[in-house]
Amino acid sequence: MVHLGPKKPPSRKGSMADVPRDLLEQISQLETLFTVDAHKLCTIVDHFMKELEKGLSKEGGSIPMIPTWVMTMPDGKEKGTYLALDMGGTNLRVCEVELLGNRDFDITQSKYHMPEEMKTGSSEQLWDYIADCLQAFLQSHHPNDAQKELSLGFTFSYPCTQTAIHNGVLQRWTKGFDIDNVEGHDVQPMLEAALKRKNVPITVTALINDTTGTMVASNYTDPETQMGVIFGTGCNAAYFDVVKNIPKLEGLVDLAPETPMAINCEWGAFDNEHVVLPRTKYDIQIDEESPRPNQQAFEKMIAGLYLGEIHRLVMLDLHEQGFIFEKQNAEKLKKPYSIDASLLSQIEEDPFENLTEVEDLFLSRFGIQTTEPERKLLRRLAELIGTRSARLSAAGVAAICKKMGIEKCHVGADGSVFNKYPHFQERGAEALAEIFGWHDMPPTHYPIKVQPAEDGSGVGAALIAALTLKRMKEGLPVGMKPEIIEHLAQEHK
Ligand code: BGC
Repeated sequence: MVHLGPKKPPSRKGSMADVPRDLLEQISQLETLFTVDAHKLCTIVDHFMKELEKGLSKEGGSIPMIPTWVMTMPDGKEKGTYLALDMGGTNLRVCEVELLGNRDFDITQSKYHMPEEMKTGSSEQLWDYIADCLQAFLQSHHPNDAQKELSLGFTFSYPCTQTAIHNGVLQRWTKGFDIDNVEGHDVQPMLEAALKRKNVPITVTALINDTTGTMVASNYTDPETQMGVIFGTGCNAAYFDVVKNIPKLEGLVDLAPETPMAINCEWGAFDNEHVVLPRTKYDIQIDEESPRPNQQAFEKMIAGLYLGEIHRLVMLDLHEQGFIFEKQNAEKLKKPYSIDASLLSQIEEDPFENLTEVEDLFLSRFGIQTTEPERKLLRRLAELIGTRSARLSAAGVAAICKKMGIEKCHVGADGSVFNKYPHFQERGAEALAEIFGWHDMPPTHYPIKVQPAEDGSGVGAALIAALTLKRMKEGLPVGMKPEIIEHLAQEHK
């Protein structure tokens, strides 16, 4: 994964000369636990490719591989104004996107805080809140044309089975959400009902995943983009396949075998059977204590929601075994999910050799006085967790490229971990180079480049709404055969 901006300073190795032997031993054990070497990466990639295929088969596998009904890339000439709603994991965002027809766009947007309690609240609360935000947005941006029906691209970034572009039955919540009565139901009628109750004139034209949006938005400005990936609170990827490679669509569609079809992989579910990923006891604990155990095995080792939690569990374990924070009150460290990935970033980015910024951080956040050797261990641990995340992410990208026979492409990437976690992009690029054997090449020449994406959940959603309306006008299908959509809709009422 190549960092295209000015080069950041390389990771400092930091001297371990003053670290006592017992802590050095702990560091070395952590290194063994968290390192994914090149050989292991290649084994993971091989298994990943098989699982991607399995997900497309009639029998299915643990990676959902969802056909999204996005069947064309934009040609850059798309025009018009569309609404986009982004329900990611942290905030709710409403955008109005004007596509300018020359691979350019204008965007007006508002962000609404998503209260933490809402993530585990009731379904009505959620849809009403979303409808209120859309209404507030329209009232401030369109006070005079309140009754004009607007087209919405709804970015709902959770695994949804789609029979057509505008609908999606939520398979399961991810990213710590646990709202009753949504799993197993189509989310589009629920949102539209809330909009109707509040008299908000909006129709859901397209329901999309953030990865699909990212791929389409990035392709709009950079036609070499063939994949969209998110490394944020959750993680996932989308790419374009063709209908004849998707046996599970056989008999359900009226589409020529060569028709392109964007696939929302939902690769967070890779290796839910625990065959190949090198899970540590900390990963297992996170899984067991999560609202959805045995799901999202890959995501739980990579995504931003979990990186801080892994760090916290290791620290607590070492403290309880008497290796760190001796005679310190570590009560504040006991709160689950009290540490997020940004703390790890801060630890890795401390510019001082004796890690005084980490010292201040631990004192102010947790009331813990750390020693310099302890801080060195904490920094090494953050590096190990961040590096493992980047390398496993690269394995996913490599698996899709290998499955599709892609030797050269751009991958549009977004999400807080990709954009903000120190060295994530370089570490990922290095892992890709190891997997593909790009030994004698400078990183700027790597043929597969994972680079910062355009705004998929806003611009991407608007573009997909535009592409969908165009297909509909031309009488082209935007889903399964109508009788099958109808039949399946009855089942999910
Ligand atoms: C969700 C995906 C989403 C990813 C990134 C995962 O938890 O299941 O749908 O694309 O997070 O937001």
